[in-house]
Amino acid sequence: MDQNQQKEAIAKAALEFVLENSNQPAALGVGTGSTADFFIAMLADHVRRFTGAVASSEASAEGLRKIGMPLLNFSDSGLMDFYVDGADEIEPGGAMVKGGGAALTREKIVASMARRFVCIADESKCVDTLGGFPLPVEVIPMAEVPVSQAMQQLGGKPVTREGCITDNGNIILDVHGLEIGDALLWEKTLNMIPGVVTNGIFAQQRASLLLTMKGSEIVRVDYD
Ligand code: 5RP
Repeated sequence: MDQNQQKEAIAKAALEFVLENSNQPAALGVGTGSTADFFIAMLADHVRRFTGAVASSEASAEGLRKIGMPLLNFSDSGLMDFYVDGADEIEPGGAMVKGGGAALTREKIVASMARRFVCIADESKCVDTLGGFPLPVEVIPMAEVPVSQAMQQLGGKPVTREGCITDNGNIILDVHGLEIGDALLWEKTLNMIPGVVTNGIFAQQRASLLLTMKGSEIVRVDYD
């Protein structure tokens, strides 16, 4: 199976999991990216099983609108059972790097409003240590220089993502060369840099469940 076929198969497994484990119509948190797009497309036949969805980006909101899923905000949705989203990297403890699609801030917020984060990540995303994928960091535009300098002091090489303005009107720095051992400590440390809106380490909002593949077999890893 190639990467795209894996993404599609994993999205299908996630849909089955969510349908099996949602007893009554409930709100669903929906992520961003190509794996999440497969999931959104498959949701089309099951819209009535949900009261609606909270989208983690304008792009996902558009996809959800197209399939007729009602879009909810937090005051309508309350605490959700599931947030389903992809990842750029996931390590054996369930901490992730996210933000390849520049949606990390809203993704972290929506994830914080769900009991379980269902991570849908193809085989290539499963790593021993985070940091091989350049770490996306959303930054208030006026803070580009000071935040870049702070990242360099921490041993990283920040590169401003060209032509990218987030849904929140900010820029993304992709920070190369970080070896993220203690993910929670790194997440907290980077959050303290003035001008950083969100960093792409999801250790506090780590995955509760990983659906991935080994070749053509679905692999399920429960973290809680
Ligand atoms: C978007 C994300 C995505 O979940 C991540 O980039 C994975 O994307 P894809 O499913 O396209 O591989 O964090 O901000």
